[in-house]
Amino acid sequence: MATYTTATVTDVRHWSEKLFSFRTTREPGLRFENGQFIMVGLDVDGRRIVRAYSIASANHEEQLEFYSIKVPDGPLTSRLKEIRPGQTLLLSAKPTGTLVVRDLRPGKRLFLLSTGTGFAPFASVIRDPEVYERFEQVILVRGARHIGDLAYGNAIVDGVRNDPYMGDIARAQLVDYSTVTREAHAHTGRVTAALESGQLYADLDITPLDASTDRVMICGSKAMLHDCCQLLDARGFEISAHIGVPGDYVIERAFVDS
Ligand code: A2P
Repeated sequence: MATYTTATVTDVRHWSEKLFSFRTTREPGLRFENGQFIMVGLDVDGRRIVRAYSIASANHEEQLEFYSIKVPDGPLTSRLKEIRPGQTLLLSAKPTGTLVVRDLRPGKRLFLLSTGTGFAPFASVIRDPEVYERFEQVILVRGARHIGDLAYGNAIVDGVRNDPYMGDIARAQLVDYSTVTREAHAHTGRVTAALESGQLYADLDITPLDASTDRVMICGSKAMLHDCCQLLDARGFEISAHIGVPGDYVIERAFVDS
């Protein structure tokens, strides 16, 4: 059984009817790597309800941030979406996870492939100055059903590009590409389709994925993870087999098995 500590909610933002983010206090001793997740929970009528949440804030920040979908009748999110600043929630003591830059072999470009709330860990990764030292270019790919679902990611990307410390680096090295599947937009279709068809490379005027120079981090639904892994495996990319074993790409294994 994981050990839990309490954290106080400091800010809540509703981005759409389905999506919200919240910030909490962070214990000074809580250490994590950008891309990792933590268990977030509430005690409801004597029962503890917990779910894994990627940490969306960077590990140099004073507070923790999370990005969540509101699942209709979801045991946790239907309560969590009502949470207000000043209230407390539970956090597991030790963040963990396999979606970390440390487990990528050296490379030139880093692709961050996300759909839906799978963007959350990349909100952390793109705010990590070390990532821009390790990679010449960081290509963030965000897939969503609707344009409105992109609002949180848009705000984070704008924030990094306008950050007093990171702005110059991010403007030079971070590329942001978003595509939606259920309404008209500058780019439409699934992230996987944009890679398969080559549309993404054409739109960004970049060369196609290449296992000798590119590294990839993936976060999304189980089906999306499965399809992205297949796509990369077919192009000769090797997954990081375990924590501490470098590969050409990483996924969050906890999200696949849970
Ligand atoms: P679609 O509208 O075709 O289902 P969700 O909210 O269900 O996680 O979906 C977020 C985005 O991910 C949607 O644009 C959805 O497209 C897309 N998506 C769903 N399944 C996959 C998959 N297997 N591979 C790539 N993208 C996917």
